[in-house]
Amino acid sequence: MQLRHALILVADPCTTEARRGVRMQKNLRLGIAGLGTVGANVVRLLRDRAEAIQSATGSVVRITSVSARDRSRDRGIDLSGLAWFNDPVALAASDDVDCVVELVGGADGAAKAIVETAISRGKSVVTANKALLAKHGLSLASLAEEKGVALAFEASSAGGIPIVKTLREALPGNRVSRISGILNGTCNYILTQMELHGSSFAEALAEAQRLGYAEADPTFDVGGFDTAHKLAILASLAFGTQIDAASIHVEGISSITPLDLAMADEFGFRIKLLGVAARVGQGLEQRVHPTMVAKSQSIAQVMGVTNAVMIDADAVRQLTLIGPGAGGAATASAVLADIADIARGPVRPPFGRPVALLEAPEPAPMQRHEGGYYVRLDVLDKRGAFAAIAGRMSENGISLESIVQKGKPKSTSVPVILFTHATSEEAVRKALEGIMSDKLVTTAPQLIRIERE
Ligand code: HSE
Repeated sequence: MQLRHALILVADPCTTEARRGVRMQKNLRLGIAGLGTVGANVVRLLRDRAEAIQSATGSVVRITSVSARDRSRDRGIDLSGLAWFNDPVALAASDDVDCVVELVGGADGAAKAIVETAISRGKSVVTANKALLAKHGLSLASLAEEKGVALAFEASSAGGIPIVKTLREALPGNRVSRISGILNGTCNYILTQMELHGSSFAEALAEAQRLGYAEADPTFDVGGFDTAHKLAILASLAFGTQIDAASIHVEGISSITPLDLAMADEFGFRIKLLGVAARVGQGLEQRVHPTMVAKSQSIAQVMGVTNAVMIDADAVRQLTLIGPGAGGAATASAVLADIADIARGPVRPPFGRPVALLEAPEPAPMQRHEGGYYVRLDVLDKRGAFAAIAGRMSENGISLESIVQKGKPKSTSVPVILFTHATSEEAVRKALEGIMSDKLVTTAPQLIRIERE
């Protein structure tokens, strides 16, 4: 490993102190690009924890430089004495910076330029940027390996939960078969507020934004894309495979209605936005969608902004990590974990093994997914409709657990809810196509998968 930090208190190996095992003091100079909720908390936490970090790593870690869009904004932190860069790429290139903390966000543009510039110049990088990693993680990891520097991203997935470290370092004795969880704090917060407090989707989203949980563009949260970015990263670490975000089946939560939540409750379920990656046969299934989970399952108890990640593996069987999935201080905690690792050294391959040894995954098509389904239909209030729907299910080999008509007809249609036994996605899709072609429903069907594991 190449030591890339300047030494400030170099212990001659022959001095008494070195003989006594006193560690060499190194100086890690940080440049922070992005001073939003997370960036400001990183500055605050680094100052609060400076002594502890020095004791734990043997390095003096200090911020030398910062960059953000608006210099005049009051962030509640003292930036005096730090070099200010209007251009974050110039910060990444600065000779006063050994390690760049990228908190700008975005899959391309400035974030990518900052990270590439830093690595190309032999600087380690800490990033919370899941969109960037889901898209360019492999090429950036290759570049980091080539330059012998760290690319660290604990804060990219599940906020304060140390899931990257767990997958990368704690499970070499295991073959992971599945990783799943609640990976987006904003969505879990919204679903919780809607379920427990009867909030509207818009009210709950506005509150999540006010609390600093949501992405700059909240479509990434509610559309399921943020979960997909995180899942892509975690699947690569869990299975030793190349990141394959493009193969993830993604659905968000914006179609979930109060009736869906009420029906889930009535039948003993909660609705959660889950990300799931699992080995199925020879393939890798990766999916993100709202999911009915039984209230008795531990994941159903995870409320608010909290995230949960479950790992199924042969030796440990099942591990569940639960913690704050978003928010400034929790995410800053993960950023500091990476900074401390870099200060301590040595450099490890970003995805746990060299990029050349990551396998190309074989995507398992969603059509082959198997499980139970909740289906909500707005059915025309006419004789024979119920029987025709049941018939379409039956002709596709689907066995129904329940079928109920809910409430009074609104104008000409009435909500009909079906819970199926385990079946395939293909069969359900075909049955719904049949129901649509029978012209029995007035709106697009709602489909929510049921996860019993
Ligand atoms: N918007 C993300 C979330 C932030 O709500 O989980 C943490 O990645």
